[in-house]
Amino acid sequence: MTKPKAEGSAADFFPERKTLPAFRNAAADCKACDLWERGTQTVFGEGARRAEVVFVGEQPGNEEDLTGKPFVGPAGRLLGEALAEAGIDRAQTYVTNVVKHFKWEPRGKRRIHKKPNAREITACRPWLEAEIALVKPKVIVCLGATAAQALLGPKFRVSKQRGEFIESTLAPYIVATVHPSSILRAPDDENSSHRKATVHRRSETDCAHSFKDQIIPQKRFNTVRLTCICESLPRPLPEFADAQVV
Ligand code: URA
Ligand code: SF4
Repeated sequence: MTKPKAEGSAADFFPERKTLPAFRNAAADCKACDLWERGTQTVFGEGARRAEVVFVGEQPGNEEDLTGKPFVGPAGRLLGEALAEAGIDRAQTYVTNVVKHFKWEPRGKRRIHKKPNAREITACRPWLEAEIALVKPKVIVCLGATAAQALLGPKFRVSKQRGEFIESTLAPYIVATVHPSSILRAPDDENSSHRKATVHRRSETDCAHSFKDQIIPQKRFNTVRLTCICESLPRPLPEFADAQVV
């Protein structure tokens, strides 16, 4: 028998009950694209049911695939550290990915991350939309180009437009920044602003170019600002008229 061609949509696997746990259960059985065969399990989003901020990455990595939890590997640990430094409890946020299965290729004994293609992103997107619709965040933070282009369009350039708060139908605002793994991959080079940022961050010096300053809206979302302390140039961002102070 020939294998059925996976050209489906995650929406074909939607549960009747529109709750996060029901969606999580349903996603575990998703076969809307071919990636379900390659990954160990579906890695659904995780976090607070009513998080004010949702972080969206690209897809689970090796450790996420094995544990079934998003952002628990090296990039996730860096994200957690950045959040902690910004005074944000990760448990109060919701963390997920555009694609819910790990796409990889063997290289020796290792599984090397491979970028998801447009078909896989389109097939998986309904899970992300359902998560966003149920959590109802005030801000969605896209981590890296895959998430940014999936939610803000293929012309979006993280390098140019990161930090811009963009109004959206998915949430009041979407903002994008670099993916934490790009900081981990950055060469150990004096001229690398990413590496400098990491060094600054590690030495607890606030820096305009540091990861946390680029991406982390302030804890209280009645006013969300990105601060740039080393240049003493706080950049005010739009106020949320309907936001509640937590
Ligand atoms: N990178 C991602 O984009 N998502 C994860 O969950 C882990 C690493
Ligand atoms: Fe379904 Fe997404 Fe996994 Fe493809 S990657 S099988 S669409 S959960």
